[in-house]
Amino acid sequence: MTKSRLTFSRRKILAGAGVAAGAMFVPTRFAIGQAAKVKIGLMLPYSGTYAALGNNITDAFKLRLKELGGTLGGRAVDFVQVDDESAPPKAKDNASKLIGKDKVDVLVGTVHSGVAEAMAQVAREEGTLTLCPNAGAASLTGKMCAPNIFRTSFSNWQPAFPCGAVMLKDGHKKAVVMSWNYPAGHEALGGFKQGFTAGGGTIVKEILLDFPKTEFQAHLTEIAALKPDAVFVFFAGGGALKFMQDYAAAGLQGKIALYGSGFLTDGVLKAAGASADGVKTTLHYADALDNPINKKFRAAFKAATTRDADVYAVQGYDTCSLLAIGMDAVKGDLKAKKALYTAMEKAAIDSPRGKFTLSKSHNPIQDIYLRLVKGGQETVLGVAHKALADPGTGCTMG
Ligand code: PHB
Repeated sequence: MTKSRLTFSRRKILAGAGVAAGAMFVPTRFAIGQAAKVKIGLMLPYSGTYAALGNNITDAFKLRLKELGGTLGGRAVDFVQVDDESAPPKAKDNASKLIGKDKVDVLVGTVHSGVAEAMAQVAREEGTLTLCPNAGAASLTGKMCAPNIFRTSFSNWQPAFPCGAVMLKDGHKKAVVMSWNYPAGHEALGGFKQGFTAGGGTIVKEILLDFPKTEFQAHLTEIAALKPDAVFVFFAGGGALKFMQDYAAAGLQGKIALYGSGFLTDGVLKAAGASADGVKTTLHYADALDNPINKKFRAAFKAATTRDADVYAVQGYDTCSLLAIGMDAVKGDLKAKKALYTAMEKAAIDSPRGKFTLSKSHNPIQDIYLRLVKGGQETVLGVAHKALADPGTGCTMG
């Protein structure tokens, strides 16, 4: 399974010599490299509160690869999958093993910002091409940005910032904010607060729980007593589902307006049922986006997995598209780093979310949609912020 490319290539040459020794075509070094499979390490959560996110990213990546004929830059693909468990203490080891032991050519990961930061540290040291299909940690395309690190998803600030203005426009002046106590939570709440306070809003209280805890009840009782105009949260995956259910069960649904980054409802809408009704969110994707690529993608994902696509699936799909653009430009030769990175930097991705390009720090510049759950459906109310770019603070590249 984890035979090095060198071993693989030598075996091929020896086999060739046995068959037609005299007139044997001796491939050049580059041709050998081209023929070898490209090994992609998928470092994602396949257990815990973010398991569904990791699975959708994986399945949509593979769906896109299939659409592309199963090859990237002319090379077939081998996958090595690691369950990172959304556990930051295990992250460095997992990334180092994928690169050092499994000898992956490309690293794709991950969902959890804390895990992504440790993974990016390893990727920077090793110089391995790394594509982030979710985790929004600011540092990945900020102070830890690097020529070999690309993100196809978002920065945590991006979908949260426009929600401040949205809430004010809806007439809410006092808000409680709530999340998990880790980089994604801090940065999402930070983005929201920036937009909200700049327009004259006041934060009444900030509530943080350890990741991935979901003991919300006591905090919901406190929110009921505080009587803010609205609540903004960052939760995702299993935790997001539980939050909406608990919010409704606590009697707050319809009384204190609930807002969030769109991860609150994405992927859990069906399971949330009536508890999600009335939840308003901002995100770089919405199921109902009316473009042909989204329609085709959603149908293909459903056919392949029997599940409905969500933002995580979109990000996995687009990660494969971006990698394909880079690898096609260098005909599979990942050693041609300058040409590879340049092609990826210049890419315009035809995504189910709408076309997007990358900023100088390698983060998507993208529209942020305003969404509202009505009768169990995510409806699109409009664009909350057109072509929003993360400031990429601290990135000295580009
Ligand atoms: C993150 O940790 O950066 C993260 C996790 C799940 C999401 C969004 C961001 O849905």
